[in-house]
Amino acid sequence: MYPTLLNIIPSVVHMAFLYFFLLVISSCGVDAMVFTLQNRCNKTIWPGIQASGGQPLLMEGGLELKPLQSRNLTAPKGWSGRFWGRTGCTFNVYGLGTCTTGDCGSGIYCNGAGGEPPASLAEFTLDSPVDFYDVSLLDGYNIPISIIPQDDSGLCPSVRCDTDLNLHCPPNLLVRGDRGQIVACKSACTAFQSPEFCCTGQFQNPNRCKPTKYSQYFKRACPTSFTYAFDDMTSTFTCRESDYVIRIQQ
Ligand SMILES: *[C@@H]1O[C@H](CO)[C@@H](O)[C@H](O)[C@H]1NC(C)=O
Repeated sequence: MYPTLLNIIPSVVHMAFLYFFLLVISSCGVDAMVFTLQNRCNKTIWPGIQASGGQPLLMEGGLELKPLQSRNLTAPKGWSGRFWGRTGCTFNVYGLGTCTTGDCGSGIYCNGAGGEPPASLAEFTLDSPVDFYDVSLLDGYNIPISIIPQDDSGLCPSVRCDTDLNLHCPPNLLVRGDRGQIVACKSACTAFQSPEFCCTGQFQNPNRCKPTKYSQYFKRACPTSFTYAFDDMTSTFTCRESDYVIRIQQ
Protein backbone atom coordinates (compact mmCIF):
# COMPACT_ATOMS: atom_id res chain seq x y z
CA MET A 1 0.00 0.00 0.00
CA TYR A 2 1.28 3.49 -0.91
CA PRO A 3 1.64 5.99 1.93
CA THR A 4 -1.03 8.66 1.86
CA LEU A 5 -0.68 12.10 3.35
CA LEU A 6 -2.83 11.03 6.29
CA ASN A 7 -0.46 8.15 6.99
CA ILE A 8 2.70 10.21 6.69
CA ILE A 9 1.76 13.08 9.01
CA PRO A 10 1.33 10.95 12.14
CA SER A 11 4.59 9.15 11.48
CA VAL A 12 6.45 12.46 11.11
CA VAL A 13 5.02 13.55 14.45
CA HIS A 14 6.00 10.18 15.83
CA MET A 15 9.58 10.53 14.61
CA ALA A 16 9.89 14.01 16.05
CA PHE A 17 8.77 12.69 19.42
CA LEU A 18 11.18 9.79 19.27
CA TYR A 19 14.04 12.07 18.31
CA PHE A 20 13.24 14.46 21.15
CA PHE A 21 13.04 11.54 23.57
CA LEU A 22 16.46 10.19 22.50
CA LEU A 23 17.92 13.66 22.84
CA VAL A 24 16.67 13.88 26.43
CA ILE A 25 18.00 10.43 27.28
CA SER A 26 21.42 10.97 25.74
CA SER A 27 21.93 14.35 27.38
CA CYS A 28 20.99 12.83 30.75
CA GLY A 29 24.05 10.62 30.39
CA VAL A 30 26.44 13.57 30.68
CA ASP A 31 24.41 15.75 33.04
CA ALA A 32 25.56 13.90 36.13
CA MET A 33 28.21 11.48 37.22
CA VAL A 34 28.77 9.07 40.09
CA PHE A 35 31.34 9.06 42.86
CA THR A 36 31.60 5.69 44.60
CA LEU A 37 32.99 6.07 48.10
CA GLN A 38 34.53 2.82 49.35
CA ASN A 39 35.75 2.03 52.83
CA ARG A 40 38.23 -0.84 52.60
CA CYS A 41 39.51 -0.37 56.15
CA ASN A 42 38.52 -2.56 59.06
CA LYS A 43 37.28 0.52 60.93
CA THR A 44 34.37 2.86 60.35
CA ILE A 45 35.29 6.00 58.39
CA TRP A 46 33.18 9.14 58.13
CA PRO A 47 33.90 10.79 54.73
CA GLY A 48 33.54 14.54 54.62
CA ILE A 49 32.63 16.34 51.38
CA GLN A 50 33.23 20.03 50.76
CA ALA A 51 31.81 21.52 47.57
CA SER A 52 33.61 24.52 46.07
CA GLY A 53 31.81 27.86 46.32
CA GLY A 54 28.32 27.80 44.85
CA GLN A 55 28.32 24.07 44.08
CA PRO A 56 25.62 21.82 45.52
CA LEU A 57 26.47 20.00 48.74
CA LEU A 58 26.54 16.24 48.36
CA MET A 59 25.04 14.20 51.23
CA GLU A 60 24.96 17.43 53.30
CA GLY A 61 28.73 17.15 53.38
CA GLY A 62 29.16 13.98 55.39
CA LEU A 63 28.27 10.33 55.88
CA GLU A 64 29.31 7.18 57.70
CA LEU A 65 30.88 4.17 56.00
CA LYS A 66 31.18 0.97 57.98
CA PRO A 67 34.07 -1.42 57.22
CA LEU A 68 33.82 -2.64 53.58
CA GLN A 69 30.77 -0.44 52.92
CA SER A 70 30.37 1.64 49.72
CA ARG A 71 28.01 4.44 48.76
CA ASN A 72 27.27 5.95 45.36
CA LEU A 73 26.79 9.72 45.21
CA THR A 74 25.56 11.54 42.13
CA ALA A 75 27.14 14.90 41.34
CA PRO A 76 25.84 17.34 38.72
CA LYS A 77 27.81 18.30 35.63
CA GLY A 78 30.57 20.79 36.40
CA TRP A 79 30.74 19.96 40.12
CA SER A 80 33.94 20.66 42.01
CA GLY A 81 34.98 19.92 45.54
CA ARG A 82 36.98 17.64 47.79
CA PHE A 83 36.55 14.46 49.81
CA TRP A 84 38.44 13.34 52.89
CA GLY A 85 38.06 10.62 55.51
CA ARG A 86 37.38 11.41 59.15
CA THR A 87 38.55 8.89 61.73
CA GLY A 88 37.73 8.18 65.35
CA CYS A 89 34.39 9.99 65.32
CA THR A 90 31.78 9.84 68.05
CA PHE A 91 28.40 11.23 67.05
CA ASN A 92 25.22 11.14 69.12
CA VAL A 93 21.75 10.35 67.75
CA TYR A 94 21.47 13.95 66.49
CA GLY A 95 24.72 13.56 64.52
CA LEU A 96 26.58 15.88 66.87
CA GLY A 97 30.08 15.11 68.06
CA THR A 98 33.70 15.24 66.97
CA CYS A 99 36.35 13.20 65.19
CA THR A 100 39.98 12.50 66.05
CA THR A 101 41.11 13.50 62.53
CA GLY A 102 39.50 15.52 59.74
CA ASP A 103 36.85 17.02 62.03
CA CYS A 104 34.74 19.73 60.38
CA GLY A 105 33.31 21.26 63.55
CA SER A 106 29.64 20.60 62.78
CA GLY A 107 29.03 16.94 63.51
CA ILE A 108 28.43 14.24 60.92
CA TYR A 109 27.15 16.68 58.26
CA CYS A 110 29.88 19.14 57.37
CA ASN A 111 27.38 21.37 55.51
CA GLY A 112 30.06 23.16 53.52
CA ALA A 113 32.83 23.20 56.13
CA GLY A 114 36.22 21.65 55.41
CA GLY A 115 38.17 19.22 57.57
CA GLU A 116 40.76 20.21 60.11
CA PRO A 117 44.30 19.39 58.89
CA PRO A 118 46.05 17.02 58.73
CA ALA A 119 43.77 15.24 56.28
CA SER A 120 44.49 13.51 52.98
CA LEU A 121 42.23 14.99 50.27
CA ALA A 122 40.76 13.72 47.00
CA GLU A 123 40.02 16.81 44.88
CA PHE A 124 37.91 17.18 41.72
CA THR A 125 37.05 19.89 39.21
CA LEU A 126 34.70 18.32 36.67
CA ASP A 127 33.98 19.38 33.07
CA SER A 128 36.34 22.35 32.88
CA PRO A 129 36.24 21.36 30.01
CA VAL A 130 37.70 18.00 31.12
CA ASP A 131 37.74 16.54 34.64
CA PHE A 132 40.77 17.42 36.78
CA TYR A 133 41.54 15.28 39.84
CA ASP A 134 44.30 14.88 42.37
CA VAL A 135 45.17 13.51 45.79
CA SER A 136 46.57 16.30 47.95
CA LEU A 137 48.76 15.94 51.03
CA LEU A 138 49.31 19.72 51.23
CA ASP A 139 47.15 19.70 54.36
CA GLY A 140 48.97 16.63 55.65
CA TYR A 141 47.89 13.01 55.81
CA ASN A 142 45.52 11.05 58.00
CA ILE A 143 44.45 7.95 56.03
CA PRO A 144 45.24 6.36 52.66
CA ILE A 145 43.01 7.65 49.86
CA SER A 146 42.99 6.75 46.17
CA ILE A 147 41.08 7.92 43.09
CA ILE A 148 40.23 5.26 40.50
CA PRO A 149 38.52 6.61 37.35
CA GLN A 150 35.87 4.25 35.99
CA ASP A 151 36.93 4.70 32.41
CA ASP A 152 38.33 2.16 29.99
CA SER A 153 40.00 4.55 27.53
CA GLY A 154 43.36 3.95 29.22
CA LEU A 155 43.88 7.71 29.35
CA CYS A 156 42.85 8.30 32.96
CA PRO A 157 45.45 7.21 35.51
CA SER A 158 44.48 6.06 38.96
CA VAL A 159 46.00 8.07 41.79
CA ARG A 160 46.96 5.73 44.58
CA CYS A 161 48.07 6.83 47.98
CA ASP A 162 47.51 3.60 49.85
CA THR A 163 50.59 3.43 52.08
CA ASP A 164 50.26 4.13 55.79
CA LEU A 165 52.25 7.34 56.10
CA ASN A 166 51.59 7.52 59.83
CA LEU A 167 53.96 4.58 60.41
CA HIS A 168 57.17 6.51 59.71
CA CYS A 169 55.97 10.08 60.08
CA PRO A 170 58.87 12.40 61.04
CA PRO A 171 58.66 12.97 64.83
CA ASN A 172 58.10 16.73 64.56
CA LEU A 173 55.14 16.21 62.19
CA LEU A 174 53.21 13.46 63.91
CA VAL A 175 49.85 13.87 65.63
CA ARG A 176 48.80 11.56 68.45
CA GLY A 177 45.31 10.58 69.53
CA ASP A 178 44.15 10.57 73.14
CA ARG A 179 45.53 7.06 73.74
CA GLY A 180 48.95 8.07 72.44
CA GLN A 181 48.50 6.30 69.09
CA ILE A 182 49.71 8.10 65.94
CA VAL A 183 46.62 9.28 64.05
CA ALA A 184 47.99 11.66 61.42
CA CYS A 185 51.08 13.26 59.92
CA LYS A 186 51.19 17.04 59.39
CA SER A 187 52.55 18.69 56.30
CA ALA A 188 55.63 20.81 57.00
CA CYS A 189 53.58 23.89 56.03
CA THR A 190 50.95 23.12 58.68
CA ALA A 191 53.58 22.20 61.28
CA PHE A 192 56.01 25.11 60.82
CA GLN A 193 53.86 27.76 59.09
CA SER A 194 56.87 29.16 57.30
CA PRO A 195 57.07 30.64 53.75
CA GLU A 196 59.74 28.12 52.77
CA PHE A 197 57.39 25.16 53.43
CA CYS A 198 54.13 26.88 52.43
CA CYS A 199 55.53 28.46 49.20
CA THR A 200 54.32 31.87 50.31
CA GLY A 201 56.02 35.30 50.47
CA GLN A 202 59.37 35.26 48.71
CA PHE A 203 58.90 31.50 48.10
CA GLN A 204 55.70 31.99 46.12
CA ASN A 205 57.37 30.87 42.94
CA PRO A 206 58.13 27.40 41.52
CA ASN A 207 61.79 28.33 41.08
CA ARG A 208 62.16 29.27 44.73
CA CYS A 209 59.89 26.73 46.42
CA LYS A 210 61.35 23.26 46.06
CA PRO A 211 60.64 19.85 47.57
CA THR A 212 61.96 19.51 51.11
CA LYS A 213 62.97 16.46 53.13
CA TYR A 214 59.46 16.57 54.63
CA SER A 215 57.58 16.77 51.32
CA GLN A 216 59.88 14.03 50.01
CA TYR A 217 58.78 11.73 52.81
CA PHE A 218 55.23 12.05 51.46
CA LYS A 219 56.32 11.89 47.82
CA ARG A 220 58.22 8.63 48.23
CA ALA A 221 55.14 6.90 49.63
CA CYS A 222 52.61 8.59 47.34
CA PRO A 223 54.50 9.58 44.16
CA THR A 224 51.41 10.83 42.31
CA SER A 225 50.06 13.00 45.15
CA PHE A 226 50.52 16.71 45.76
CA THR A 227 53.14 17.10 48.46
CA TYR A 228 54.02 20.80 48.17
CA ALA A 229 52.38 23.74 46.42
CA PHE A 230 54.25 23.54 43.09
CA ASP A 231 54.05 19.78 42.76
CA ASP A 232 51.34 19.94 40.09
CA MET A 233 53.41 18.71 37.14
CA THR A 234 53.37 15.19 38.57
CA SER A 235 50.15 15.31 40.54
CA THR A 236 47.19 16.63 38.54
CA PHE A 237 45.39 14.28 36.17
CA THR A 238 42.60 14.64 33.66
CA CYS A 239 39.80 12.48 32.35
CA ARG A 240 36.64 13.02 30.32
CA GLU A 241 33.12 12.45 31.65
CA SER A 242 34.07 9.57 33.87
CA ASP A 243 32.69 8.15 37.10
CA TYR A 244 35.19 7.81 39.96
CA VAL A 245 35.84 5.43 42.82
CA ILE A 246 37.31 7.11 45.90
CA ARG A 247 38.85 4.34 47.97
CA ILE A 248 39.95 4.60 51.54
CA GLN A 249 42.17 1.63 52.19
CA GLN A 250 44.91 0.59 54.53
C1 LIG B 1 27.37 1.85 42.64
O1 LIG B 1 27.23 1.87 41.23
C2 LIG B 1 27.90 0.79 40.56
C3 LIG B 1 27.75 0.97 39.07
O2 LIG B 1 27.72 2.29 38.69
C4 LIG B 1 27.32 -0.53 41.01
O3 LIG B 1 28.03 -1.60 40.41
C5 LIG B 1 27.42 -0.63 42.53
O4 LIG B 1 26.78 -1.81 42.95
C6 LIG B 1 26.79 0.57 43.21
N1 LIG B 1 27.11 0.49 44.62
C7 LIG B 1 26.20 0.76 45.56
C8 LIG B 1 26.68 0.64 46.97
O5 LIG B 1 25.07 1.12 45.31
